[in-house]
Amino acid sequence: MKGILFEMKKNKIITVFGSKGGVGKTTVAVNLATVLSLAGYRTALLDFDLQFGDASVYLDLDSKQGICELVQEGTLSKDMIQSYMMTHKTGLSLLSASERPEYAEIVQSKHGEEIINGIYTEYDFTFIDLSPQMNEFNLSALEKSDLILYIVNPDISTLRSAKKTLELMKALKLAHKVEVVLNREDDNIIKAKEIESLMKLKFIYKIPIESKYAVASLNQGIPIVINARKCKMAKRLTEFGMKIGDGNYGVT
Ligand SMILES: Nc1ncnc2c1ncn2[C@@H]1O[C@H](COP(=O)(O)OP(=O)(O)OP(=O)(O)O)[C@@H](O)[C@H]1O
Ligand SMILES: [Mg+2]
Repeated sequence: MKGILFEMKKNKIITVFGSKGGVGKTTVAVNLATVLSLAGYRTALLDFDLQFGDASVYLDLDSKQGICELVQEGTLSKDMIQSYMMTHKTGLSLLSASERPEYAEIVQSKHGEEIINGIYTEYDFTFIDLSPQMNEFNLSALEKSDLILYIVNPDISTLRSAKKTLELMKALKLAHKVEVVLNREDDNIIKAKEIESLMKLKFIYKIPIESKYAVASLNQGIPIVINARKCKMAKRLTEFGMKIGDGNYGVT
């Protein structure tokens, strides 16, 4: 049902979120955006992890002029926003965070909303990468999203905080657009099905652990879907991205 609703609307906004650091939010956002861009969709990635956003590192793009510098321009017209966006060789447009974490506090939720409103109609898919916090800025981005991919890992601490955050999202009437993604799936530790029944969660997608290639790709600034496209993790991310492109993301 969600898939059908999702398909009807163009210019989709997809936010990648999670309540813990290091679970793979940026990895998933960068790679799904890359897959869609390579498939010919007009795709943007907004690095709204204001203080420590590192999407530019994953894509080996310059991060000197990012959202914090953009907001200081005073005007957030479409042209101004796009003049701050960098184009990756796949065609993906990136608005990076900033090199200067101390500037993050000047960016308010109204700026985030203006940036999203200013550009999302230019793209088939606008991905948003967030910091792992339920603050006002993040909430306004979550509210603007058509789909929220909530990333978890198979450890009890992450899963417990996920349960709490998902409850809160339900109370905030965001639950209908949230889908949970298991990253670092590792059958040798615990099977995804066991987590689902223990935690009463349903995973829309599972991305396997790929210790060798994930960090290597990050260090080289090349998304894993390009750099190691035959590894299991890259294959799953590619498949997931293509399903999102088809508006058929709800199949695991
Ligand atoms: N499936 C995976 N298998 C192995 N390593 C992974 C996997 N997914 C992500 N990683 C690695 O985990 C690290 C953290 O990933 P990432 O930066 O995407 O997390 P994050 O949730 O965005 O973190 P932060 O909250 O700090 O922004 C990176 O080194 C990344 O390469
Ligand atoms: Mg991140």
